[in-house]
Amino acid sequence: MALAIYRKYRPRLLKDLIGQELAVGILKNAAKSDKISHAYLFYGPRGTGKTTAARIMAKIANCETRAKDKAFREKGEPCNKCRPCTEIDEGRALDVVEIDAASNRGIDEIRSLREGIRLSPTSYQYKVFIIDEVHQLTKQAADALLKTLEEPPAHAIFVLATTEYDKLPPTIISRTQRFHFRRIPIQLILQKLNQIAIEEKLKIDNAALELVATASEGSFRDAEALLEQVMSLGEASTGGTSLENVEQILGKVGSVRTATLAKYLLDNDLQASLEYLTEINEAGFNLVQLNKDLIHYLRRILALKFDPGLEEVFKRELTPDEVKEIKERGELIESEAKIISLIKSLIRAYSEMRYSPFTLVPLEVAIIENLKS
Ligand SMILES: Nc1ncnc2c1ncn2[C@@H]1O[C@H](COP(=O)(O)OP(=O)(O)OP(=O)(O)O)[C@@H](O)[C@H]1O
Ligand SMILES: [Mg+2]
Ligand SMILES: [Zn+2]
Repeated sequence: MALAIYRKYRPRLLKDLIGQELAVGILKNAAKSDKISHAYLFYGPRGTGKTTAARIMAKIANCETRAKDKAFREKGEPCNKCRPCTEIDEGRALDVVEIDAASNRGIDEIRSLREGIRLSPTSYQYKVFIIDEVHQLTKQAADALLKTLEEPPAHAIFVLATTEYDKLPPTIISRTQRFHFRRIPIQLILQKLNQIAIEEKLKIDNAALELVATASEGSFRDAEALLEQVMSLGEASTGGTSLENVEQILGKVGSVRTATLAKYLLDNDLQASLEYLTEINEAGFNLVQLNKDLIHYLRRILALKFDPGLEEVFKRELTPDEVKEIKERGELIESEAKIISLIKSLIRAYSEMRYSPFTLVPLEVAIIENLKS
């Protein structure tokens, strides 16, 4: 595999950004009507397309077709063929400066940035500054950035990106045009993974792909990185990739086992619960992860019972079968108090397990404690 999946399948047009229709629509319209802003803020969870969109905006600003081409007016998309477009795609455009504030937190970087900003672009119409993880800038650096945003030179465009909107100074926020990047529904992630699998001629069964999508928790970056791990494992073996392989890679017990254990717990079957737990442990799965999944699972059953409207939310995070199962489980619950106490014990066990050399014990104790009576 020559190119990392996430690079190879990084969208090069706004329209290929999946699940961000609102932001994409506004950005496109602005491009069509030649209303490019000087400061954007893209915020939202990791792996949802912020950096990708920032680079597309850099292309839109500098695309040679923008001034003259009819196609540009109609679509509001970069041509992906001209010199600026290709250079930006290849990451070798001098006038597109990417700064990762997480590793360059200092005032010096921003100071040299401020000096750099004064200079005109070397060969493009606009100099584009993409500042990733902008909430990580030091106070001083943020002040320096603010000064620049107050009076940006006509040739400069800023695209700020962050996963933590709440940590940004409101003074900076108010100087930008803001776009919320949403967490991606599992179904859409699954679709893209499917396409990649076909394109890469990857032998992977659907259950395995579903597990990859669910484990990504709404982040394309995570989904694609996982798929890549799975693929390199698939190359080593011959029979293609199955659910078991993916579970091994994730150290994940998988939704089927989590649901089975939850069933024994809810049925108050202590013996079956402990036996099944031992089995999972002996198979070498990660029990901390199992417990985490179990807590999520039980919490969803409980929450759905009290607020049926949550079904819509869960549909974005889980596969349809999982949602159905959670719903049915909830209907069978007799005592909510019992689930609540079980969840509480599991949460306590979770923090104990992370620092314990015997991860099995806290989990076992939590189960016995709750099921014995
Ligand atoms: N909305 C999306 N549609 C299609 N692919 C996407 C989308 N968002 C992310 N990806 C895929 O995930 C990879 C990482 O995306 P990107 O770097 O844009 O995420 P990000 O929002 O900047 O994440 P982070 O906050 O972790 O920096 C991309 O290369 C692309 O393949
Ligand atoms: Mg990013
Ligand atoms: Zn172009």
